[in-house]
Amino acid sequence: MHIDPTATGSRITLTALLLAFVVLVSPRVSKSQVTSVKVADAECAKCHQEIYRKYLATPMANASGQANEKLMPATFVHKASGIEYILSMVGGHASLDYQDLRDATGKGRLSLNYFLGSGHLGTTYLYSVDNYLFESPVAWYADSRSYDMKPGLAEISEKPPSLPMQSSCLRCHMSAVRASDSGTINRYQGAPFLHTGITCEACHGDAQQHVRTAGKSSVLNPIKLNADLRDSICISCHLEGDVTVERAGHSALQYRPGESISKYLAFYVYGGANPTSRGVSEVEQFAQSTCKRVSGEKMSCTNCHDPHFTPDAQQRTAFYRSKCLACHSEPQFALSHHPENPDCTSCHMTRSGAQNIPHVAWTDHRILKLPASVKTETRTQAQEQLAPVFSPGATKRDLAMAYYLKMLDGDRTAESRAWEQLNQEKDEIHDDPAALEALGVMEAESGDGKNAEQTFQRVLELDPHDLTALSNLGTLLAKQGKLKEAASLLQAAFDRNRNISGLAMNLARVECMSGDAKSARSTLETTLVYNPDLESVRRLMKELSSCAKTDAGQ
Ligand code: HEC
Ligand code: HEC
Ligand code: HEC
Ligand code: HEC
Ligand code: HEC
Ligand code: HEC
Ligand code: HEC
Repeated sequence: MHIDPTATGSRITLTALLLAFVVLVSPRVSKSQVTSVKVADAECAKCHQEIYRKYLATPMANASGQANEKLMPATFVHKASGIEYILSMVGGHASLDYQDLRDATGKGRLSLNYFLGSGHLGTTYLYSVDNYLFESPVAWYADSRSYDMKPGLAEISEKPPSLPMQSSCLRCHMSAVRASDSGTINRYQGAPFLHTGITCEACHGDAQQHVRTAGKSSVLNPIKLNADLRDSICISCHLEGDVTVERAGHSALQYRPGESISKYLAFYVYGGANPTSRGVSEVEQFAQSTCKRVSGEKMSCTNCHDPHFTPDAQQRTAFYRSKCLACHSEPQFALSHHPENPDCTSCHMTRSGAQNIPHVAWTDHRILKLPASVKTETRTQAQEQLAPVFSPGATKRDLAMAYYLKMLDGDRTAESRAWEQLNQEKDEIHDDPAALEALGVMEAESGDGKNAEQTFQRVLELDPHDLTALSNLGTLLAKQGKLKEAASLLQAAFDRNRNISGLAMNLARVECMSGDAKSARSTLETTLVYNPDLESVRRLMKELSSCAKTDAGQ
């Protein structure tokens, strides 16, 4: 077998990896220290008993927790892949067993550690293998009251690769979320987060001094902040737009209550796109309401929501009605305006059909006078430009990154804009690893290997562990036949990211091209630990079994 790494149509091809992740360093904390809101905030209960008690019952307090607290024993068969999944408690541990019905040896068990999602929409689970954190391939859907594959996996015809759970996903559902190990996307030597659920400190900031001084030292109260800082707290978790960009040199994980979220994140939406059809968009919708536009800065989410209390079905009508009447205090609203129906929201804040989709508002926060007048917009050519929302100070670099991220998301219309705008920013992003990564990936995609190499080299000067740069540069060098250099870069990336099967497969191909079948096999075996029974890896293992016998590579 002869491998010409540059030839197209070669049996062994190097797939260009599109990997783009932000990586930070943070202090290590042992996994056994992860606590629930109930435990983490027990201290506050000593003096704020009522708030603590009410808050514990809210979806935010229960946004996540230990998996064994929320597992519905069940069995289901995923037809397309022919795999049976069994969720059950095994020796007190929530477990997910899988069995390939077409292959008796294709079976295994995942021990689930955490759940994510209080469950009014759905619940997904997290598990870890060694220090790598993953999301389970199956999730609970409240709509059908049953388990099924995660969105995106419904059609898969074989066992899915493991799904890395990244901090960008954890940050709104857990508290005190940590950065993954340097150069990795989902590996944690310590705990990935300190608490399940949204703790008091997620909105009130560091309260240790306040506790130590028995309440004498002040603690942040959102309502006392200016409008930008106050609103930033809710926005940090309740807004995504069409795409969210981390600002240069900043990570969303570093945001603390009391700061402006726009220092960390820039949010973009496609101009004119209908905010009821996407995103965590209560924030956007509310900004469009007449109530908010006329009231201005003095109105915020907490005019209607008590962050410590979620009214139940019996209480909700009276609860929200009292909030409306606090402003709409003209006697007509309390007395003669539709006395037959006390539920103001049933007419002015209707529920959309989006109820079963996480991250999409299902209560219309535009507070329309006549809900019937709502017309749904569809995206047209003219709307295919991203515009910033709630992001004063967003830069051209941020816009370029927004298009780039949309492109990675599969939106091909964003590609040319990302390319054009990143190139325009070339001089500005010299010290900006995230933007340089993006530029390098696009240069490599467009066939400009020479510039891509330089760009990735620059990223590695800034961060020698950078996964995107190591893996893409390694792939580029391999295509030129520089196998030794390529292997060492890919190996460095793989040592920290053993679960990324695409990376493992590229490394194995390069090892095989160098005639080292043993290493190639061991690389693939290693990634199978994290992706058991993954067909594509097994297939490659068979293909590569003969590479030592041939005069591979140069
Ligand atoms: C030993 C008693 C004590 C403990 C423990 C305590 N607090 Fe307080 N807290 C107080 C007192 C006293 C006040 C001021 C009086 C008031 O307005 O209730 C206060 C006020 C507050 C305020 C309002 C501040 C303002 O400026 O309006 C917040 C918010 C707050 N506490 C949060 C917390 C949180 C969160 C915790 C747990 C991490 C906590 N407290 C623990 C006693 C305590
Ligand atoms: C910007 C913050 C944010 C990020 C990032 C985020 N979520 Fe969410 N998620 C929310 C909010 C807020 C809700 C609940 C309200 C809503 O649906 O708008 C939610 C709801 C959910 C639900 C339904 C919960 C329930 O109780 O029914 C699931 C499941 C979920 N998210 C999973 C994920 C996963 C998986 C990721 C990572 C890929 C993720 N989320 C990333 C904010 C976020
Ligand atoms: C989702 C964000 C959020 C969380 C979580 C949260 N708070 Fe608050 N808290 C607020 C906001 C916003 C205000 C101001 C509300 C207002 O006055 O309209 C507030 C006000 C307060 C106040 C002072 C006003 C009052 O109502 O007495 C105290 C005390 C307080 N919170 C304690 C806590 C404690 C204790 C916890 C955890 C058990 C907690 N909060 C969790 C957002 C939050
Ligand atoms: C750290 C992230 C985070 C912050 C900060 C945050 N939320 Fe949430 N919020 C969530 C998540 C996650 C959910 C969904 C929890 C679930 O159902 O699993 C949620 C759910 C809600 C809900 C629906 C459930 C309910 O209680 O009725 C409301 C309303 C809400 N949040 C309001 C607010 C407001 C108002 C603020 C600002 C004062 C705020 N949130 C700040 C993460 C956050
Ligand atoms: C912070 C004050 C405030 C709160 C709370 C509030 N509104 Fe308003 N709302 C206003 C103001 C101000 C206007 C514009 C002037 C007016 O019509 O009074 C308005 C306008 C409206 C309109 C007319 C919209 C239009 O496009 O003409 C409706 C309908 C409405 N509000 C319903 C509600 C309902 C229902 C609630 C409770 C769920 C509510 N509002 C809560 C302040 C508020
Ligand atoms: C005028 C009153 C009002 C304001 C202001 C308001 N909400 Fe709501 N919100 C509601 C009502 C009513 C519901 C539905 C509650 C129910 O059905 O029990 C709701 C529901 C929600 C939910 C649950 C998911 C959904 O869409 O039904 C979230 C999350 C939420 N609001 C977040 C926010 C955030 C964040 C803000 C500020 C940007 C905000 N809300 C401002 C009235 C309001
Ligand atoms: C049964 C449906 C229904 C209920 C319940 C309802 N409204 Fe309305 N509301 C309407 C309709 C329809 C209009 C527009 C026609 C009109 O002005 O009467 C309206 C108009 C309004 C306006 C704008 C008035 C103006 O002069 O432009 C406000 C403000 C308002 N409602 C607030 C409320 C409040 C507050 C509640 C609860 C106390 C409430 N509505 C309950 C149907 C309803």
